[in-house]
Amino acid sequence: MKNILNAPFLEEMKKTTSNMYRLGWDERNGGNISYMLEEDEVKEYLDINKVIRTIPTGFDATELIGKIFIVTGTAKYFKNVEFDPEKNLGIIRIAEDGTTAQLLWGYKDGGKFTSELPAHLMSHIVRLKHDPQNRVVMHTHPTHTLAMTHIHELDDKKFTHTIWEMCTECIVVFPDGIGVLPWMVCGNEEIGKATAQKMEEYRLVVWALHGIYGAGKDLDETFGLIETVEKAAQLYMLTAHMPHINTILDKELKDVAEAFNLDYRKDFLNL
Ligand code: 13P
Ligand code: ZN
Repeated sequence: MKNILNAPFLEEMKKTTSNMYRLGWDERNGGNISYMLEEDEVKEYLDINKVIRTIPTGFDATELIGKIFIVTGTAKYFKNVEFDPEKNLGIIRIAEDGTTAQLLWGYKDGGKFTSELPAHLMSHIVRLKHDPQNRVVMHTHPTHTLAMTHIHELDDKKFTHTIWEMCTECIVVFPDGIGVLPWMVCGNEEIGKATAQKMEEYRLVVWALHGIYGAGKDLDETFGLIETVEKAAQLYMLTAHMPHINTILDKELKDVAEAFNLDYRKDFLNL
């Protein structure tokens, strides 16, 4: 059996959480990541028949029975993951009942998965229907994106349009747009369901006055989606209070989308 501390997926989790922490997105225990692993890759490092303990999830994830995820721990700090992954991360498998997680590794201080597991697993279920390659759900608190939710209308079309207008690459990176949820209590099934519902249409969902969710094939792609929104939100916050002399016109956004052959939200442009 190979040493799990050298597993590529663990390395990626360490690098990603540290990177996000250094960008200032994940203060204290802010943010959480779930990354679906292949049974075969986990088997190289763990006896997958050995369950350390079982932890109820409190909701039904029948569609994910048998699926294995590496998930950040609740109340754990992204800044600490790289120094003690076995305490700050856990590898769980959804048990036959669909409502229990079997701990295969990690949470070594008796901890458990993120309080946002409902939003994560429900989002995985929805995104897998749209893209069987989807593996990652990421939640974080990027500063400018949050700032923008203080001063911008919380409407999918209007929010996406403003972000697309900020820099040319946005419509290329997320032609499917951004879903926006109003302020809600976090960490429960209700916000999980609302997030998953938005994930039917979008890979990015903003939680007003809280943060953002992204979904993608791997950690890089998912991080890149959020990073691009955050960059555009920063441009917005730097310029919102100034006269706008230049802007990308809707006709030009359409030209970019067509030049890159994108299946984009045409209804989000005012043409
Ligand atoms: P957890 O510490 O439970 O992951 O919660 C952090 C967070 O960002 C809540 O939305
Ligand atoms: Zn959060």
